[in-house]
Amino acid sequence: MKNIYSAIKVTDNVCWVGAIDWTIRDFHGYTTPHGSTYNAYLVMADDITLIDTVKAPFKDEMLSRIKSVVDPSKIKYIISNHSEMDHSGCLPEIIDTLKPKKVFASTIGVKTLKELFHDRHEIIPVKDGETLSLGNMELTFMETRMIHWPNSMFTYLAKDQLLFSQDAFGMHLATLERFDDEISAGTLEFEAATYYANIVLPYSPIVLKVLDKVAASGWKIKIIAPDHGPLWRKNIGRIIELYKKWASQRSVAKAVVVYATMWHSTEKMASAISESLAQAGVKVKLLSMNEFHRSEVVYEVLDAGALIVGSSTLNNNILPQMADVMTYLKGLKPANLIGAAFGSYGWSGEAVRDLEAMLREMKVDIVATAVSVRNVPNEGALQLCNELGKTIAAELKKKAASN
Ligand code: FEO
Repeated sequence: MKNIYSAIKVTDNVCWVGAIDWTIRDFHGYTTPHGSTYNAYLVMADDITLIDTVKAPFKDEMLSRIKSVVDPSKIKYIISNHSEMDHSGCLPEIIDTLKPKKVFASTIGVKTLKELFHDRHEIIPVKDGETLSLGNMELTFMETRMIHWPNSMFTYLAKDQLLFSQDAFGMHLATLERFDDEISAGTLEFEAATYYANIVLPYSPIVLKVLDKVAASGWKIKIIAPDHGPLWRKNIGRIIELYKKWASQRSVAKAVVVYATMWHSTEKMASAISESLAQAGVKVKLLSMNEFHRSEVVYEVLDAGALIVGSSTLNNNILPQMADVMTYLKGLKPANLIGAAFGSYGWSGEAVRDLEAMLREMKVDIVATAVSVRNVPNEGALQLCNELGKTIAAELKKKAASN
């Protein structure tokens, strides 16, 4: 039977043999409205090597793409750059099917794969800086622990000046276009930023160190081949520059106002705060958790300098939509933020106090007095919201100017 799927040529020696997931809409809490790809690559060296595999249900699609260029039994080595199951889910079955001579992962990757699959396959550890000869070409490994799992590593193919970067520089975007120059710059930057904010953000200090490590390695890089989304061959300088910007999390004059409301009182307060921020010349994003998703919030927070959060009080608590986004944000560790809290209540009013405590836990610098209003805000209460916005704007501009 003829193959349904085909490999896509990346260079004379490398093919993309991954899978496209058009329908995935949730990636452990990160909404992925545009699907994703699980990228795997074949290095057609003397010793044919498969770099990463795909999520378990996509094994046959990957095998079909491999078969379009080579008999899969001719694959001698498999490299696992990252153990998370979207890249290793079919690895045990693929090892059984292909029977490669050797399978390699980082030292922590070996342990992680054992703990994930509890199977009998031997995985050989490779160290940071170690090389593997494929006969007529050579691979070099670089540990990139915590970008974004402890097992993560990069693999570099010097002959093609190609960096296999696993999740780094990736994006969740299902597309038949495989290269950055086939996709609009706006889409690339939006999807890469969304991916960074939702996956890589907590590890920003490590990202800066790894970027330095790659620069110091002397590797010339003509292509970056990540494990999700398009390969970078035209805009490599731009995506590295963006990673440096996102990882450094410098304060800018942008505020994100996030709230949830029961009967529109907290919403009126959010609107008054946003209006005064905008009047003071600050860029504002107003996001109601009654409508927006946590992934959209963290995308906006990525390049913001202020986070202002509001909630009605429900049963002595913040609203559940705010608990959701605050938990998510706390885990993603956005840095260098100032902020404040606000909200309305009927009789007890714990929400504002609790939100302030959560901001402090996130190391957000509280620079304005919280506004807490019983029932519907009157003109005076909305003036207080205006003042809160003005205070934040003044602090934000001062901070942004000192960067
Ligand atoms: Fe794409 Fe961390 O897995």
